[in-house]
Amino acid sequence: MRTIDWNYEKNDIIMIDQTLLPGRYEIIECKTIESLCEAIKSLRVRGAPALGAAGAFGVALSAQRSSVQSLEGLMKYIKSAGETIIATRPTAVNLSWGVRRTIRAAEDANNIKEARMFTLEEAKAIADEDVEKNRRLGEYGAELLEDGDTVMTHCNAGRLACVDWGTALGVIRSAREEGKDIKVISCETRPLNQGSRITTWELLEDKIPVTLITDSMSGHVMRKGMVDKVIVGADRITQDAVFNKIGTYTHSVIAKEHDIPFYVAAPVSTFDFEHLEDEIEIELRKPDELRFFGNHQIAPLNVEVYNPAFDATPMENVSAIITENGVFYPPFLLDEVRIKI
Ligand code: MRU
Repeated sequence: MRTIDWNYEKNDIIMIDQTLLPGRYEIIECKTIESLCEAIKSLRVRGAPALGAAGAFGVALSAQRSSVQSLEGLMKYIKSAGETIIATRPTAVNLSWGVRRTIRAAEDANNIKEARMFTLEEAKAIADEDVEKNRRLGEYGAELLEDGDTVMTHCNAGRLACVDWGTALGVIRSAREEGKDIKVISCETRPLNQGSRITTWELLEDKIPVTLITDSMSGHVMRKGMVDKVIVGADRITQDAVFNKIGTYTHSVIAKEHDIPFYVAAPVSTFDFEHLEDEIEIELRKPDELRFFGNHQIAPLNVEVYNPAFDATPMENVSAIITENGVFYPPFLLDEVRIKI
């Protein structure tokens, strides 16, 4: 099944619980905004494009479940639910994009029934478009890969970070579909291990060769000539920087030092044309994510912890940005990307 979807039988949201992977593959249901917000905060659903769909389905869910009697009341209700959803994770711009686009769709409604229908149709369209955009992005990106390349990636920018197919891993899937022999090096992505738990799992499911390394090995493997290209996803692309999982910046610096192309793969919905790096809030996560590994304590309980979920990579470290509208090279004129939206 897709990473996240609408369950027409029960009129709720279903998703793959990513916190259980790779040990268990389970589908969970979200029947309320509270349970959806819990799922987003605890990363049961995660990855920028998947969060866009989660936000959109969340607005649709609030519209279906609300018992208010007037259209005005319903609009107020879904806007408030939307703000609650957006507040769960501040860095990935797709979340607010998905929420706001779905609320806008309801603004064309003449009555409650239409508003409910429009939100659900819009959320479903966002999910369908995500798959189609990733396919297009994958085809553009595949042109950058050569037969025999080894690609290093960080975190999970695969089908589980999207509705399906993936961005960074979508490029690899498309290149392999074209017959190119592409191998992957996946960084484990401490502290929540999206690379070791999710990226390796989904690549092995597709029989794509993957080697797992710790994040701190990336310098070594790049210096040793074991990496031809780096491809990562993005949570937000401002005019001057790419926000992605913590550790991405470090890989970009090493890639630059060793003349290894550093590519970012992301849909246009991840671009935030209005802001600069310094204006963006980087999500700070709980200290216990570093003090414990699963249930196992790995640091003194009273140690000070700094645990940002994302970092920002300046544009001068980025070789190209792969989108569904094509590949963009420096200097990144974001107006060019915008024109094609
Ligand atoms: O904290 P997460 O797991 O949501 O972080 C995800 C990432 O950083 C991904 O690389 C990014 O969202 C791109 S997903 C196509």
